[in-house]
Amino acid sequence: MSESVVELTNVRVQFDGGRVHAVDTVSLQVGRGEVVALVGESGCGKTTLIRSIIGLEPLAHGSISVLGESVGGRRGLRALRRRVQMIFQDPSGALNPRHSIYEAVAEGLRIHKVKGHEPTLVAEALSNAGLRPPHRYLRRFPHELSGGQRQRVLIAAAMALQPALLLADEPVASLDASIRGEILALMRSFVDLHGVSIIAVTHDLGLAWNIADRVAVMYLGRIVEVGPTEEVLRVPKHPYTQALLSVVPEVEGLPQQILTGETPDPSRIPSGCRFHPRCPLVASGEADRLGFGDRCRGVDLELEPEVGVHRVACHAVTFAAGATPTTNASGTATAG
Ligand SMILES: Nc1ncnc2c1ncn2[C@@H]1O[C@H](COP(=O)(O)OP(=O)(O)O)[C@@H](O)[C@H]1O
Ligand SMILES: [Mg+2]
Repeated sequence: MSESVVELTNVRVQFDGGRVHAVDTVSLQVGRGEVVALVGESGCGKTTLIRSIIGLEPLAHGSISVLGESVGGRRGLRALRRRVQMIFQDPSGALNPRHSIYEAVAEGLRIHKVKGHEPTLVAEALSNAGLRPPHRYLRRFPHELSGGQRQRVLIAAAMALQPALLLADEPVASLDASIRGEILALMRSFVDLHGVSIIAVTHDLGLAWNIADRVAVMYLGRIVEVGPTEEVLRVPKHPYTQALLSVVPEVEGLPQQILTGETPDPSRIPSGCRFHPRCPLVASGEADRLGFGDRCRGVDLELEPEVGVHRVACHAVTFAAGATPTTNASGTATAG
């Protein structure tokens, strides 16, 4: 009955013989035609998580299925190769410099034996990706295009295969700020046109506004807040999300909060809430004053159970559900 295009259940991915907990118990479902932005600081496990979805990282625990097929199994992986496409941060590195733009798009069509007249399919794909008229691009080579045009070629090559799921790892991070919006709008247009689902990784929360239906915030390998974009970005509940948002220039009304404390290290995940060594609620003594400081330091927690669409893993919030304090937008707790 699952309408999910991709479903992750308690996924863990480890490196260095289990020492590095890059992804540490993540569950996430993405529906058809849904765009989820995966956000968080560098090193929090975003790339590892999406690589695991295409079977590039073995799971230490948990399971992933795409269109109902388990990603672990051989059969699953083969079926997946066409239905899940990935685009990367650096379009130059992903294009063969000696292959023409025609070849760059046609190659995937051949590998996956896509039916149809190849030149027509290539031209359509380029045109749909905004490279118009397509014949102006076919014989050119990657170095003759701008960064934005190269990313459009990669999007064309991916979308020509009619994937059900597009994984985009920082797709605009290497591009000029002035064209980031265009590329995101292009990706979004495929959702409306073809019903593709997208997981877009970004360390920039501001960009999530432009593309995502839902936002999932990762911290040290775990999703600490997830919900509809409007809710997560307008009424962030987790102090970590609040801190990330407070430094986004377009966001007003949040006092700027520079995260202090040690840079997170997935080989040494703190006890209790993994964010507690950097949490302003704990540092200010507010958590202790309100009576949940010991939980922050001692009790590990996952996302709230699926009672609502906007979920968070924060003792302040769960405590507030049973007592009175709630977190407000400034990240300080108030009695409620
Ligand atoms: N192949 C690997 N071997 C060892 N550690 C890795 C490997 N890949 C990633 N890591 C570590 O896992 C953590 C998460 O990395 P990554 O998924 O790339 O984060 P992000 O994409 O959010 O920046 C980092 O601490 C990184 O150093
Ligand atoms: Mg990354």
